[in-house]
Amino acid sequence: MGKDVIVACDFSSAGETLAFLDKLGAEAPFVKIGMELFYAEGPEIVRTLKSRGCRVFLDLKLHDIPNTVKKAMAVLSRSGADIVNVHAAGTQAMMEAALEGLTRPDGSRPLLIAVTQLTSTDEETMHRELLISGAMEDTVLHYARNARLSGLDGVVCSPLEAEKVHKVCGKSFLTVTPGVRFAEGDKGDQKRVTTPAEAKALGSDYIVVGRPITAAADPAAAYGRCLREFVD
Ligand code: C5P
Repeated sequence: MGKDVIVACDFSSAGETLAFLDKLGAEAPFVKIGMELFYAEGPEIVRTLKSRGCRVFLDLKLHDIPNTVKKAMAVLSRSGADIVNVHAAGTQAMMEAALEGLTRPDGSRPLLIAVTQLTSTDEETMHRELLISGAMEDTVLHYARNARLSGLDGVVCSPLEAEKVHKVCGKSFLTVTPGVRFAEGDKGDQKRVTTPAEAKALGSDYIVVGRPITAAADPAAAYGRCLREFVD
């Protein structure tokens, strides 16, 4: 696994997703399947995209009691996904159970990462609604540390936090970062954003990009621009 752009396929059907991937024109992009597409199509969509050669980040953000998450992860482990995730807020016991459920009899498993704080949450909302005091960065770093202590492979965070996460958790601890917008782009519901070039400068391992590519007039050009800014 190296630096790459993960395209968030936030679509409601396999047909729409495959039509979009044809427009993208890339051989086998790294794609993210979220709740909408997975709930619509089930595990078959993972197999379909894997059969096209794509690597798949299955972004279902599990958050439940440890036993339930462990059993769900055992099922997801058989899906063929390359990366799956949980909410770090589910506690270390839950993350450890997730890892256990994910590990196959031969010891292999998909990568497991934890969401720290959603990139659509800003510090003021975190204080007021979630009653988490302190700075956003401290919360993200605390959750990242919990994820590392639980044996996970990395976290989902904003590119703005990637550098600090690496400092605290080590260079090989993955930072997968949504909240990416082109300099002139619309932020939508995202709050803690950077451009692909800034994410690269901050040391993010993977950027997750949805609407700047999927809603672009020319998705292939937008994807190419992300690769040029982030990877090249
Ligand atoms: O369209 P946009 O680029 O905002 O898409 C970002 C994607 O990353 C969405 O699919 C969203 O669910 C996901 N995501 C996020 N923030 C997180 C975790 C996942 O935006 N912390």
